Amino acid sequence: MGRIVAVSNQKGGVGKTTTAINLAASLALAEQRVLLVDIDPQGNLTSGVGQKGKAGPGGTIYDALTAVEPVVDPRPFFIPTGVDQLTLIPSDRNLTGAEIELVGLSHREERLRTLLTPVRDEFDYIFVDCPPSLGLLTLNALVAADAALIPLHCEYFALEGLADLVGTIRRIRAALNPALDIEGVLLTMFDERTNLGQQVASDVRQFFKEKVFRTVIPRNVRLGEAPSHGLPVMLYDVKSRGAEAYLALARELLERSAA
Ligand SMILES: Nc1ncnc2c1ncn2[C@@H]1O[C@H](COP(=O)(O)OP(=O)(O)OP(=O)(O)O)[C@@H](O)[C@H]1O
Ligand SMILES: [Mg+2]
Repeated sequence: MGRIVAVSNQKGGVGKTTTAINLAASLALAEQRVLLVDIDPQGNLTSGVGQKGKAGPGGTIYDALTAVEPVVDPRPFFIPTGVDQLTLIPSDRNLTGAEIELVGLSHREERLRTLLTPVRDEFDYIFVDCPPSLGLLTLNALVAADAALIPLHCEYFALEGLADLVGTIRRIRAALNPALDIEGVLLTMFDERTNLGQQVASDVRQFFKEKVFRTVIPRNVRLGEAPSHGLPVMLYDVKSRGAEAYLALARELLERSAA
């Protein structure tokens, strides 16, 4: 059964999309079958893998989530990416309205789970890239997921707002998805030259203990450049520190799941 991982943090710009793209591509290069699901109206994941404006025969994630009746087959929304074994369900700007449209629909929190369940055994990993909010789209991701992966930008306010996310995860466990786990907390945009980065990293490790990934993602310009070429960083500059870090993260994830 494929593991569904929601890449989530309601704070903006912490590296959610960068992590979803590059971790997914690293796993695909390690011969894992991976599905990426873009549920952010900004569509950064979709454009970051070079598929901006593309849709499957059934449309985009917007069409899949807002049909009158819950959609039970995601395959018409699949599109290939430039990476073997890496499939995408794209997003588009219509999704901006979905938070509101979903409110009036049946099974509004479970639509993504219903959509993805039938293809779980066709993939080893399914990553859902969440928007920077705790609205209905993120709720759908956390209800569908086995676990949340939380990227944390190593800066002063990193831990602020995290209590809200942890609280949301607790409430979802109590009400809608008892098995929801925390896959791990990932330190991103780490700058080893600053004391602040070190301090934040040590605070986060004290708070989340072994839930924090050993792998730390450094600040690296290649990670910022790669999406404008529609490529995961390992296809853009495999020797960069950013590529090395995400390849190491994929190995760590695979080791953990084998343990
Ligand atoms: N490790 C890194 N080093 C340098 N730049 C990075 C790194 N990680 C991400 N970036 C850049 O920082 C910006 C924010 O990253 P990203 O889009 O992944 O965050 P996000 O959490 O998905 O944002 P949003 O909340 O808007 O969805 C992007 O321009 C991205 O290219
Ligand atoms: Mg994003």
